[in-house]
Amino acid sequence: MKGVILAGGTGSRLFPLTKVTNKHLLPVYDKPMICYPLNTLVNAGIDDILIVSGRGHVGHFLELLGSGSDMGVRLSYEIQEGAGGIAQALGLARRWADHDSVTVILGDNIFEDPVKDAVQSFKSGARIFLKEVPDAQRFGVAEISGDHIIGIEEKPKQPKSNLAVTGLYIYDSEVFRIIQELKPSGRGELEITDVNNAYIQKSAMTFSLLKGFWSDAGTFDSLLHASVMVQESRKTQTSR
Ligand code: G1P
Repeated sequence: MKGVILAGGTGSRLFPLTKVTNKHLLPVYDKPMICYPLNTLVNAGIDDILIVSGRGHVGHFLELLGSGSDMGVRLSYEIQEGAGGIAQALGLARRWADHDSVTVILGDNIFEDPVKDAVQSFKSGARIFLKEVPDAQRFGVAEISGDHIIGIEEKPKQPKSNLAVTGLYIYDSEVFRIIQELKPSGRGELEITDVNNAYIQKSAMTFSLLKGFWSDAGTFDSLLHASVMVQESRKTQTSR
């Protein structure tokens, strides 16, 4: 199992914070944002991790994180030219992944739950992680029936559930073939939701429900919320 952190994009929703730096380097409480998804992967026992980011900022990630040796992992870096979407960025990891399964995490997603068991027990197909939220229309939204996932809609105006698809995905090596066959969406990007729906159509998708705190940090409000939640969870840890 290898890990991929997707840290591209222009961060336009956080402008002007992102005018001269990358969104994933902004502070979330006491650490640069990217340290949280990186820790999620490292704590899941993944020690070979690729960071995909845009031209212009990749050097800053290198300065911050280096080879990864101080965390006991090997970090590699890949550049996404332009903004072709999350699935296009993941497609850049194909050669590096070399037929292994990949755990993919979005660089602006902060997870409290450990995911080691899900990662270590993964065999084939795909697995996503769902979280009940009050504002599902901001996310990919899953429709489920019992243990089955029926489909995912990307940012629906009228969500069929309150289950957001979080930015953490486990895929077998089939994912790269699926990405090669994707067509760009209305906004001209290769969508990760289309990748997930391809697995659902093959009945090869499973899911976990997250219990702990989860947030993205791509808007002013969610960035602030993420910082407050991290601060809260630190307090609980130190008072134990
Ligand atoms: C992306 C995905 C969406 C997912 C979200 C999680 O949206 O497209 O399905 O729910 O990440 O953070 P974005 O935040 O890039 O608009």
